[in-house]
Amino acid sequence: MDEKLESKGKVCVTGASGYLASCLIKQLLLSGYHVIGTVRDLGNQKKLAHLWKLEGATERLRLVEADLTKECSFDEAILGCHGVFHSASPVMEKPSSDPKALMLLFCVMHIQREILEPAIEGTLNVLRSCKKNPSLRRVVFTSSSSTLRVKPDEDFASSLKLDESSWSSVEYCQRLQLWYPLSKVLAEKAAGDFCKENGIDLVTVIPAWVIGPSLSPDLSHTALRVLSLLKGDTVWYGRMGYVHIDDVALCHVLVYEHESAHGRYLCSSTVLDNDELASLLSMRYPSLPIAKSLKQVSRPYYEFDTSKLQSLGFKFKTIQEMFDDCIDSLLEQGHLSGL
Ligand SMILES: NC(=O)c1ccc[n+]([C@@H]2O[C@H](COP(=O)([O-])OP(=O)(O)OC[C@H]3O[C@@H](n4cnc5c(N)ncnc54)[C@H](OP(=O)(O)O)[C@@H]3O)[C@@H](O)[C@H]2O)c1
Repeated sequence: MDEKLESKGKVCVTGASGYLASCLIKQLLLSGYHVIGTVRDLGNQKKLAHLWKLEGATERLRLVEADLTKECSFDEAILGCHGVFHSASPVMEKPSSDPKALMLLFCVMHIQREILEPAIEGTLNVLRSCKKNPSLRRVVFTSSSSTLRVKPDEDFASSLKLDESSWSSVEYCQRLQLWYPLSKVLAEKAAGDFCKENGIDLVTVIPAWVIGPSLSPDLSHTALRVLSLLKGDTVWYGRMGYVHIDDVALCHVLVYEHESAHGRYLCSSTVLDNDELASLLSMRYPSLPIAKSLKQVSRPYYEFDTSKLQSLGFKFKTIQEMFDDCIDSLLEQGHLSGL
């Protein structure tokens, strides 16, 4: 390894085997960092195999066990790191058909234990470990665009262009039982308060819906939803922002390295309605059974203003590149075979 690569230092990435974190680790290794990745189960070789295939992994990747629900669990992984990328969080939504799962999900204790606590208390656990680490330079927290666009229709009236100053409504998320956005809003706010009180330099990346290749053939919740869309599912989310997974990873590295980066950074390339997405995909990939129209979901019109990130010199990949790369990877892994 050359001198320049050697000087990059040591960083920790939480939830290392996840869809986004794996891509971030690939980028960090390529940039020359030493990476400590946290996983819940070191014994699960199948879930970790793709990480060991990354360029530089043998020399500069170490995996450590840590769980968001256990106090002090991240101490070992974080001690001595200059940067911490906190990406681990439960990513799930309301199941629509399975009545047993639905009953379980609506059980308050289940929501608290499986979604809200790991996201909120888990973030604080990670930050408490950061506080104990004298080498720490910056924490980069992965939030979600659902922290700024989930609110009553009337709240969109004043501005159709949402930027980092916008926040989703906690009360609205609770009323509509939108647990994932609620968990992300509360976790991001808790992180902000903790870092302010404890003098920790925190920068937040706010990705839209992430599209692109999955390094692991074991698909994440989001990648599985995209796969079902490509296989003809007509249920989709309504107006939403989309961003290439490589861009989200690069954005994390950029805001970590850019000395003057601060606060929140919205990371979204293109905002589309369901019908725009369906017509784009069905025309571009005629060999796939993609529905020509998707069930309509009533969401207010809005655009995303990403000028803050672009002012750091950031350029987004297009929606076509996102799906081209995603479909290539799904084909390669055999997920689209037999169609
Ligand atoms: N995918 C998107 O479109 C999208 C968009 C915006 C923001 N984000 C954010 O990006 C981050 C990564 O999401 P992703 O799509 O990559 O999801 P993912 O593949 O499901 O990754 C989530 C990771 O969090 C870990 N995790 C969950 N509960 C945990 C716990 N109790 N203790 C330790 N680790 C735990 C998971 O570990 P296991 O592998 O052991 O389950 C997994 O590695 C999340 O913060 C998510 O909110 C994602």
